[in-house]
Amino acid sequence: MNIPFNRPWISGLEVAYITEVLQSGHLSGNGAKTKACQEILKEITGCESALLTQSCTAALEMAALVTGIGEGDEVIMPSYTFVSTANAFLLRGAIPVFVDIRPDTLNIDENQVESAITEKTKAIVPVHYAGVPCDMGRILEVAKSYNLLVISDAAQAIGSSYEGSDVSSIGDFSTLSFHETKNISSGEGGALLINNLDFAERANVVWEKGTNRKAFFEGIVDKYTWIDLGSSYLPSEITATILLSQLKFREFILKERFKIWNFYHSYFQVLEEDGILRRPIIPDNCLHNAHMYYILLDVKKFERGEFLDKLRALGIHAVFHYLPLHNSPAGLKYGRSVGQLKNTIKASYSLVRLPLWIGLSDSEVTYICKKVDETLRSMQK
Ligand SMILES: Cc1ncc(COP(=O)(O)O)c(C=O)c1O
Repeated sequence: MNIPFNRPWISGLEVAYITEVLQSGHLSGNGAKTKACQEILKEITGCESALLTQSCTAALEMAALVTGIGEGDEVIMPSYTFVSTANAFLLRGAIPVFVDIRPDTLNIDENQVESAITEKTKAIVPVHYAGVPCDMGRILEVAKSYNLLVISDAAQAIGSSYEGSDVSSIGDFSTLSFHETKNISSGEGGALLINNLDFAERANVVWEKGTNRKAFFEGIVDKYTWIDLGSSYLPSEITATILLSQLKFREFILKERFKIWNFYHSYFQVLEEDGILRRPIIPDNCLHNAHMYYILLDVKKFERGEFLDKLRALGIHAVFHYLPLHNSPAGLKYGRSVGQLKNTIKASYSLVRLPLWIGLSDSEVTYICKKVDETLRSMQK
């Protein structure tokens, strides 16, 4: 057995689609394929406007630029997240303010957000960990009473919903990732989804290097010129066409991922009952997207590094995930944290992500489950 942690899924349409793009004479961004993807993203998520980017990192950076978040402003986010969540705002001179996560979903603790607010706070950045939505009801309530923006890092959450609405349609902005480890992928890729239309025009300008090129193409101005800050965020039509070929299979992708997620979840019920591990918890008012299957180990009973090594020796490539940002070298230098962040630290020591990708066979998933079971039982102190 040699089971990788991830293997990107290929729809089979890619080669024909890329050939079509190559023959079309339009390889740069913002062509027919980009527009088709953006329309599908609007349809899936219910967001008001969508712009493809080269990554979720780029989409977060765009959100920071478009909203004018700058020097000395504060942005509240979980410490248990990817570096891009913080870097995007830090690049504008803002200060990331880290709060703890909830022990159940590992999402930002909505009840700690208020205590992190100061007169410099401009935005809250919820991260929907493992594609499980944050408590957006409470987050929106806090944002409204302090007049803050909500910029969701939905890198992992395409297709997830909160109280019946796609989670990306909630708040002012959401950012998606199409990195090869995500449910839908173009290798590298992302999108900025805009729900607050006050920012839509500026977002288009920032997207097009700070020019009013969109207005030019729409015949509103007779030449385009530099009018604002901006950069080159557009992916090429080749990237967009790979994304399009995957978006067309979004229901199939979801179904296949859920088969594996559900198998893990039912198999590990007994291990949870035996106090060996803890399984993911999905709140009743949320639908997730089977992005990730993780288990949480009791660190008093198990040494995670040893467990990962044992799995690796059995041909199973399981991995840990984020190191907290608040106590990282850059976090200590540039950020501020609120409270002890005990749940963040605990998750960073105890979480193990298991392989979950389309093409993982029933026998491989069964093998992983059995080996996790046997290994943990044999290691139990
Ligand atoms: C929560 C979160 N935000 C942002 C990113 C960055 O995504 P990308 O690789 O598309 O820039 C990731 C990547 O995994 C992520 O997990």
